[in-house]
Amino acid sequence: MFNILCIVGSRRKNGNTATLVKEAMKAFDTEKVQAELIFLDDYSFESCNGCNGCQNSFTCVIDDDMQKIYPKILASDAVVLGSPTYFYNITAETKAFIDRCFCLDFFDEDDRSVWISINDTGKQKYAAVISVAEQHSEKDMGVTPEVMKNSLESLGYRVVDVVKALGLFSAGEAAHDTTALQDAYNAGEKLLRTLRLRRKIEILMQNKKSE
Ligand SMILES: Cc1cc2nc3c(=O)[nH]c(=O)nc-3n(C[C@H](O)[C@H](O)[C@H](O)COP(=O)(O)O)c2cc1C
Repeated sequence: MFNILCIVGSRRKNGNTATLVKEAMKAFDTEKVQAELIFLDDYSFESCNGCNGCQNSFTCVIDDDMQKIYPKILASDAVVLGSPTYFYNITAETKAFIDRCFCLDFFDEDDRSVWISINDTGKQKYAAVISVAEQHSEKDMGVTPEVMKNSLESLGYRVVDVVKALGLFSAGEAAHDTTALQDAYNAGEKLLRTLRLRRKIEILMQNKKSE
């Protein structure tokens, strides 16, 4: 059973990001996957205040709704993270969410250029990123896809796909964009196929041990 956490960083519940994240989730429609969809807007949490109270403890000291999300992150094998572009970047909710995941990283005491994430300590975790923008040129997405990809990588995920859905403005327009829908579904499928490969390797290793 794979556990996949799907996160929408737009406040529009029926928006394009939600539509595409849900499309990616269609690929998880098997009894072997437990997928959960969360909207960051349903959770009330502050932005990171940089107190470093989490330093090497994996525990953020701010007692708010992020405390409900951390266990979901830890329990999941993979995440789908989606955000629309707001002024060439991810939304404020998505940024606050990522910043609050800082507590999941663990730094070398003498050399802060060396770190690992709590996500690195168990089985490899994977992610897919879905970015959405109104304009038709990738340039107008600014850093949206890269911010999500790079941040997830620094949090220990291997990002297997980055969807860039362009030309979507009104809420739910994505439902009529066959290319964007296909790209999102493919991202979900790629994530699941990657997890299946991880499982195959685990079984091969177990078999080797018992030989
Ligand atoms: C505050 C704000 C800033 C935006 N900035 C950009 C932008 O820089 N580039 C762009 O292409 N679209 C921009 N958009 C358009 C959204 O990315 C677009 O409407 C997207 O489909 C919204 O996704 P959602 O339906 O999931 O909320 C902006 C929208 C808002 C509300």
